[in-house]
Amino acid sequence: MIHYRSPVEIELIRKSALLVGEALAEAAKMLKPGITTMQVDACLEQFILDNGGVPSFKNYKGYPYTTCISVNDAVVHGFPTNAVLQSGAIVSVDAGVYMNGYHGDSAYTFIVGEGTADTLQLLRVTKQSLMKGIEKAVHGNRIGDIAFAIQEYTEKQHGYGVVRELVGHGIGRNLHEDPQVPNFGKRGTGPKLKEGTVIAIEPMINMGLKEVYHDVDGWTIRTGDGKPSAHFEHTVCVKKGKADILSSFQSIELAEKANPNLDASYY
Ligand code: MF3
Ligand code: CO
Repeated sequence: MIHYRSPVEIELIRKSALLVGEALAEAAKMLKPGITTMQVDACLEQFILDNGGVPSFKNYKGYPYTTCISVNDAVVHGFPTNAVLQSGAIVSVDAGVYMNGYHGDSAYTFIVGEGTADTLQLLRVTKQSLMKGIEKAVHGNRIGDIAFAIQEYTEKQHGYGVVRELVGHGIGRNLHEDPQVPNFGKRGTGPKLKEGTVIAIEPMINMGLKEVYHDVDGWTIRTGDGKPSAHFEHTVCVKKGKADILSSFQSIELAEKANPNLDASYY
C-alpha cells in the first residue's frame, strides 16, 4: 500500500532526513586516509543520539551498525570495519534517522585523498543521475519515469552498470515501504506518483558491469567485476510541478569542500 502523507507528517520526515544530512556532514569532516570506517560509524551514531534521533538501520532485520559504509567494490550495505582507508578510496556512507515516529534516509559518496578522472566521473554522473530521477518525481508521473531517467543517463549515456538487485523505496513510519523505486525501467510504467508520497531515490551505479554478489558477511553487496561503485540517496516528497527534497546535501558539500583530505574536484 502506498501512503500519502499530510503536511505535518512531511515536516516530521523532513526533520529526520535533515538530521541524516547533518550526520553525513560529520562523516565529511572526519574522512581521510588512515582512519577506519568503524570510527566513522561510532561518531555518527553518537551524533544522531545526541541530536534526539535513533539510528534507523541499527537492528533493522538484524543489521548491526548505525551506518552502511561501502568502500570501493562494495556497492551498498557495507559493514563498517577496522581496515584503514587508503587514498583514492570511494566511500559511500548511508544512514537513516528515526525521530517523532518517522524515518529519513540519505546517502553520499566521497573520495578519500585523491581520486582519478574515472572515479571522479563516476561520482559526478551518479550524483547527477539522482537529480535526474528527482526531476521526474512529480504528481502524475509514474515510478518508471524516475527509473528510466536514471538508467538512460548512467547506462546509455555513460556506459555504467545499474544495479538491478536493490532499489529505492517508500519511506515514512517504516524505513522501507511501498512503492519500490528501481533505477532501471520503462517510461510510463509502474505505480502512479501522487502528491504526498515520500520515497527514497537511491541510484547504485557501477563503473563496470551491473552484476553484484553478496559478501560472506551476509550484508555487503559487491560488484562482480571488482570495479568501484557509487551511491547517492535523497528522501523526496512527490509534489505537483516539482519534487520537494526532504534531505539535504548542503552541509555535506560544505564540509566536503572544506576537508583537504577529500577530493571534491568533481563538481
Ligand atoms: N539506505 C539503505 C536502504 O534503503 C539502508 C539499508 S538498511 C539496513 O536499503 F539497515 F538494512 F542496512
Ligand atoms: Co534507502
